Amino acid sequence: MEESTKTILVVGATGSLGRLILQALLEAPNTRVRALVRPGSRGKLAAELATDEAARVEIVDGELGDPAALARACAGAFAVVSAVQGGPEIIVDGQLALLAAARDAGVRRMIPSDYSVDLFRLAPGENINSDWRRTFAERAEAIRGDVALVHVFNGCFLDKRVLFGFLGAFDLAAGTMNLWGEGRAPMDFTTFRDTARYTARAAIADEVPSVVRVAGDTLDFWQLKEAVEEVTGRTLSVRHQGTLAELDAEIDRRRAAAPTDLFAWLPLMYWRGMLNGKGQLLGLDNQRFPEVAPTDLRAYVRAELVGAA
Ligand SMILES: NC(=O)c1ccc[n+]([C@@H]2O[C@H](COP(=O)([O-])OP(=O)(O)OC[C@H]3O[C@@H](n4cnc5c(N)ncnc54)[C@H](OP(=O)(O)O)[C@@H]3O)[C@@H](O)[C@H]2O)c1
Repeated sequence: MEESTKTILVVGATGSLGRLILQALLEAPNTRVRALVRPGSRGKLAAELATDEAARVEIVDGELGDPAALARACAGAFAVVSAVQGGPEIIVDGQLALLAAARDAGVRRMIPSDYSVDLFRLAPGENINSDWRRTFAERAEAIRGDVALVHVFNGCFLDKRVLFGFLGAFDLAAGTMNLWGEGRAPMDFTTFRDTARYTARAAIADEVPSVVRVAGDTLDFWQLKEAVEEVTGRTLSVRHQGTLAELDAEIDRRRAAAPTDLFAWLPLMYWRGMLNGKGQLLGLDNQRFPEVAPTDLRAYVRAELVGAA
């Protein structure tokens, strides 16, 4: 029915996660899809979407620093989904501007760009990216009006570029894994596509909790090793790097040596929040969204890594 059609605005739709959220929304019933796209990035969307998909997306030119564009983008929307990436000027200031526009337009729900371990369980300084997202959440409370904030947490992306890349947990070429501490904490893993599907469902649902925790798999370090070995048929050797306290010291040392070189120490901040169990998702909401059948670790590795490892 036309009355029940919901317009969902996606900001960051040209990014790795955002385009998948856009596609998941296009598959959802009774949903109209709108994207705020920076003028120079329109071509990316056209390149990533099939022609019939692109034709169904209403594009609003603009960016987070343009209040008039934000007002146009939010007008008539039921929910706003952010999948932007950047520093505090984007994650804090930019998303607050988006929230203000959403509030003024009468938007009911905003999903900010979190998509991570449970960042509310981390202490300040443990992960700078989590710090910015918590700062946004704290400052959002003062201005959100009737907009409900919904945080989507999915653990670590079950992905070649993230779990098997950026994080530094694996060196598949060398056949090694890097461990700090005992490796007994459960860790959550979800693919980009499944995270996008859950996010789309959380955006359009009539009712949804303020924190949505989802995962395709939950494994400790040793179960992760066993699963990858089982599917790839390879034996991985573990490089014990030290205790969790030594991991803290290593992050501090690297950061002091190269404060602006994020890639020297930020991956270790993520790996710490997983290995020490602080980022674990306590109580999953998967069953709220039975239409999503998430990929587990073994299925992902079988599909994406076997033969490439
Ligand atoms: N849990 C995990 O393991 C994990 C791993 C990776 C990422 N993430 C999270 O997932 C989220 C999305 O990350 P991603 O890798 O998909 O990001 P990405 O590919 O870098 O995409 C970022 C998007 O933000 C847009 N953007 C940036 N600044 C903007 C502005 N001022 N105005 C409007 N749009 C702007 C970009 O637009 P342009 O195309 O115009 O540049 C792009 O569409 C982030 O919150 C990230 O932290 C989580």
